[in-house]
Amino acid sequence: MKPRTIAVASPHGRYDVVIGPGVLDSLGQTARSVSAARMAVLVADDTTGELFGQRAAGSLEKAGFRVERLTVPPGETSKSWRRAGDVLESFSERGLARDDLVVALGGGVVGDLAGFCAATYMRGVGLIQVPTTLLAQVDSSIGGKTGVDLPRGKNLAGAFWQPLAVIADTACLVSLSDEDWRSGLAEVAKSAILDGEEAVRTLEAEAARLVRREPAVVESAVIMAASLKARVVSADEREAHDREALNYGHTLGHAIERVAGYGAVAHGVAVADGIRFAARLAELVGGSDPAWTRRQSDLLDVLGLRRGECPYDAQALVASMYADKKVRGGEVRFVLSDGPGRWRVQAIDEATLLTELRGVCGTGH
Ligand SMILES: NC(=O)c1ccc[n+]([C@@H]2O[C@H](COP(=O)([O-])OP(=O)(O)OC[C@H]3O[C@@H](n4cnc5c(N)ncnc54)[C@H](O)[C@@H]3O)[C@@H](O)[C@H]2O)c1
Repeated sequence: MKPRTIAVASPHGRYDVVIGPGVLDSLGQTARSVSAARMAVLVADDTTGELFGQRAAGSLEKAGFRVERLTVPPGETSKSWRRAGDVLESFSERGLARDDLVVALGGGVVGDLAGFCAATYMRGVGLIQVPTTLLAQVDSSIGGKTGVDLPRGKNLAGAFWQPLAVIADTACLVSLSDEDWRSGLAEVAKSAILDGEEAVRTLEAEAARLVRREPAVVESAVIMAASLKARVVSADEREAHDREALNYGHTLGHAIERVAGYGAVAHGVAVADGIRFAARLAELVGGSDPAWTRRQSDLLDVLGLRRGECPYDAQALVASMYADKKVRGGEVRFVLSDGPGRWRVQAIDEATLLTELRGVCGTGH
């Protein structure tokens, strides 16, 4: 299969997202086409370094880069201020220069951490994203958001730093755990809902094959979702308007993850429940068709994202939503969908949120 290239426009120029099985082996060639760097620092976590580090480094070396490898422990705890400091110090110890390159090889954690370090080292060095999780291929590697967590919350320190290229090798996804696969599937469902009727219909038809990770179906789902993300961020780098759509399902999803304690609930399950809740709200406050709510929920079901139990206190979920950094002017804003491809943002008052959450969350009172 021939790789697909999607162009992303950014205020600093355009870059390509290259998608397909095996494109990891063209990393060096692609990197050389966008950078005259002497050295590339390849940042991975222990897992992605072990699985793909050799191939990535080999491809870069073949294209004439001197490669330095850095690994961090897998998982969200590596997205910390302290770890970013360690990575920055390693950059300087290894002699990374202003016109050299950082290559982020891994999921969203590595992409956000290495991207943030690339944005800040010497006020910014070139970055190539090589996403290896479904979530990173369809979402986090595109659009230039980078950052680390602080003790008081996720992504509280960050920078916009656009990559020079994104290399998404869909064949790398076969080794992902089921949980990480589902996290990405929730983003794929979100993308189809925002994209429109054709994307929803295709995903409904191919959902079972996507769950089985059939290569052709995986590739077309990544292309659909990455294209949507590319279109949205090309129009709106800084989340002034269009980019807000990408939060569909995430307002409650993030609150569930925070209240449950990070890692206790799979991100995909939390986002899927967030989508179901937003769909209910759209019916309630906007009169959207109940059949659309059911259709979204059924799609999530076939993707293996069944409704999670909600043993959380409704009040705690609402408090968590108000504490979110995306709250504007003291209002919790929800992305609501009235149908495939149609969305708007609406502030929902606290009383409505509490009443509705008490309807779906077990112990909330
Ligand atoms: N920057 C953005 O726009 C943006 C958007 C969405 C999410 N995010 C961030 O992304 C992070 C989550 O990303 P994630 O879900 O990719 O998690 P992750 O990076 O932690 O990866 C999940 C796990 O999968 C492993 N892994 C990665 N690739 C693998 C492969 N091909 N085979 C087997 N195992 C593999 C990793 O080692 C890790 O243990 C969060 O920190 C979130 O805040 C950022």
